[in-house]
Amino acid sequence: MERRWTCEDDILCGINTPKDWENLTDLEKKHVPVIEAPDRVKKDEPFTVKVMVGKLLAHPNEPAHFIEWIDLYCGDTYLGRAAFSAGMSYPEAVFIVKLSHAHGPLRAREKCNLHGLWEVSKPIEIE
Ligand SMILES: [Fe+2]
Repeated sequence: MERRWTCEDDILCGINTPKDWENLTDLEKKHVPVIEAPDRVKKDEPFTVKVMVGKLLAHPNEPAHFIEWIDLYCGDTYLGRAAFSAGMSYPEAVFIVKLSHAHGPLRAREKCNLHGLWEVSKPIEIE
């Protein structure tokens, strides 16, 4: 019997996240965003969030294969986007963020032109 193709077989379907953080594949290491941000922030005070792709393992940065953009959310609240030009900018972004209340975890999502969407989240507390 012929095996059916499903979304689970297609990296371009949905949003990819690592299956096992203790045993990341090279593909996952190249694509999962890394979020650097405080664990706790004060309400209505700006803080810095840095997001990097390829920190765990370098991702190609050439016209045929590159990171197109990084989006940052807090919960489902959109905070911003950084877009990149193949070979001329690196997939790292610094966002200055100010939150008045809890929305949920910080979520960084990136888009590779060949390997689709990848996302990670980081809890954040607002005092
Ligand atoms: Fe890629």
